[in-house]
Amino acid sequence: MGSFKSGLLVLSRNIRSKKRKQKKKKKEFTAEQLSRYNGTNGSSPIYVAIKGRVFDVTTGKSFYGPGGDYAMFAGKDASRALGKMSKNEEDVSPSLEGLTEKEMNTLNDWETKFVAKYPVVGRVVS
Ligand code: HEM
Repeated sequence: MGSFKSGLLVLSRNIRSKKRKQKKKKKEFTAEQLSRYNGTNGSSPIYVAIKGRVFDVTTGKSFYGPGGDYAMFAGKDASRALGKMSKNEEDVSPSLEGLTEKEMNTLNDWETKFVAKYPVVGRVVS
């Protein structure tokens, strides 16, 4: 009886740890890998990263897909551009260097919006 109970305990622990792993499973992308998800690859998803966190923005294809107003952010970590409210190519970068407090707040607001709207699929690694 004791061994039956402890067997069940082991089983349920295993299931729980598997579930935890599944939930946690986040892909790691280099900037180069991320850049492939820029919406020009037909049916593949579109990703945008904020502070290294990669969001699947495919449902926002009208914004980020080819010809969209924000297509320059697709396949990129656009943190700097979002903080500065800029669509300039040179601002489409993960660099937070020299952003003002106001710009950091703007970026954090975008992050909050994205967390609410889009699934996270992974992180950008260097
Ligand atoms: C005159 C200037 C602008 C106007 C009138 C404008 C207007 C809008 C509107 C109406 C939306 C759709 C909002 C929604 O349906 O949820 C939108 C989305 C967006 N705007 Fe702008 N925008 C302007 C400039 C900018 C600039 C300079 C940036 C640069 C960071 C920017 C970044 C974005 C982004 C990233 C989205 C998509 C958000 C999402 O994925 O839901 N916008 N904009």
